[in-house]
Amino acid sequence: MHCLYLLRKTVNCAVQNVMWYFFGIVTGVDMTPHSAPVEPFDLVIFGGTGDLAMRKLLPALLHRFNDGQMPPGSRVIAVARDHGFSSAQYRERVQQALSGKGDHAGLADFLPLLDFHALDVTSAEGWQSFAQEVLRVGERVRVFYLATSPDIFVPICEGLHSHGLAAGQSRVVIEKPIGRDLASAARINDAVGRFFSEQQTYRIDHYLGKETVQNLTALRFGNALFEPLWNAAHIDHVQITVAETVGVESRGPYYDKSGALRDMVQNHLLQLLCLVAMEPPAAFSADAIRDEKLKVLRALKPIDASNAAQLTVRGQYRAGAANGQSAPGYVEELGQPSDTETFVAIKAEVANWRWAGVPFYLRTGKRMPERLSEIVVTFRSVPHSIFEPSAGPLQSNKLVLRLQPDEGVKFWLMNKVPGPGGMRLRHVAMDMSFAETFNVRHVDAYERLLGDVVRGNPMLFMRRDEVEAGWRWADQILAAWANSHEAPNPYTAGSWGPSAAVALIERDGRTWNDDAG
Ligand code: BG6
Repeated sequence: MHCLYLLRKTVNCAVQNVMWYFFGIVTGVDMTPHSAPVEPFDLVIFGGTGDLAMRKLLPALLHRFNDGQMPPGSRVIAVARDHGFSSAQYRERVQQALSGKGDHAGLADFLPLLDFHALDVTSAEGWQSFAQEVLRVGERVRVFYLATSPDIFVPICEGLHSHGLAAGQSRVVIEKPIGRDLASAARINDAVGRFFSEQQTYRIDHYLGKETVQNLTALRFGNALFEPLWNAAHIDHVQITVAETVGVESRGPYYDKSGALRDMVQNHLLQLLCLVAMEPPAAFSADAIRDEKLKVLRALKPIDASNAAQLTVRGQYRAGAANGQSAPGYVEELGQPSDTETFVAIKAEVANWRWAGVPFYLRTGKRMPERLSEIVVTFRSVPHSIFEPSAGPLQSNKLVLRLQPDEGVKFWLMNKVPGPGGMRLRHVAMDMSFAETFNVRHVDAYERLLGDVVRGNPMLFMRRDEVEAGWRWADQILAAWANSHEAPNPYTAGSWGPSAAVALIERDGRTWNDDAG
């Protein structure tokens, strides 16, 4: 059954490759989508029964499998404390979790690759038999994914090391949050670093695996058009918004200790900012790109007690509406009083020659009116208008990169309205939806990132110095908020955040891109 399935996959891939081959002959370019073959590998998921495994990792692996990227002999071993749970029961649980999802073709063939191993990682018992199970097959790529709370990163890494599992082609994947401030992040990095080298350590920020985020690098450095204009002389400001309609729901215990700055800004939004602001790297290589991102993080202008009140806004949602239904407030969801922010807006600045004076407005929140993540680069206005006022106002060019939903790029330009009636101008978008233009399946960020770990490509993962530089900047904001003792501004669930966030940008004569497209 499995062999037949793989045969079918191979034939499908071959047909596609032939199409690309002929396209290549016509254009003279080899456009074959080449997924380099991988050798059989092991992926061990600590926290294998958890939410991340069920919602993201296993569906992503199923897609890798369907694409022929999990050769026969590859194993997925889920580890959790649940004693008395068998591999058969685990497969059943995975089947239930994944068959409820849209695309679960190939699931029956994928399930036999999964095994379950009960292990209490904090106890000495059990490690021996676990290690034997893993080492039963010879040397190969072994990925240890720590989808667990950071409290047990150290016992896991220590256990792996002392049982001979951290050697050879082993690598460890750690999930955010990597610490809750610089000191705790450094502790985690030190602890993991005692057992795994930096080259073996993959720190996931799943935003880096999103298609549009990678396309940003292609747009900036694959086109001659943007780079000469990509600086303070031509760019008025940048907005980065990551809005979610969901509240914190069952994640309250984690979220309340974190808040939006730690959960979203220190990692996802700062990574996006880096990719917009970095200098052209000398090559498309992991360290060349990470070196440039690091320089941006180090150039972020400090926000501390002296300016946090002017440059930041914290918010917390109150009862309102979400997805057309009434929604409780954060405190009701949590079941206790809290001053944790579920919304942040920040006016950041990258203090270097390229960007001095250009605001980077960052904004993220839960229970917003729509799920929308985008980067908006607004160019400066033309220096002088040659048109009569009757032509209408001249608006600035804007490059909008939509991360979700409906990934794509829009470029807003002034155009003449066709037909008679004199020169009438209108701001119109050249709109490219990835789904329509490329007609390819949407690849989830985790799918791409898991593939990169197996191949040993660290480009889309955060290096230790990047994580720590992000915390160095965020820590000062957190300290300023803690010292101010001010509660977050309330906002109604289903709104774009507190009015102070609107004021933050409108004070500068600008507006959030909310409904502008
Ligand atoms: C996670 C945060 O890193 O990203 C969550 O912990 C957030 O709070 C999620 O909901 C958003 O990811 P995405 O891919 O749905 O935008």
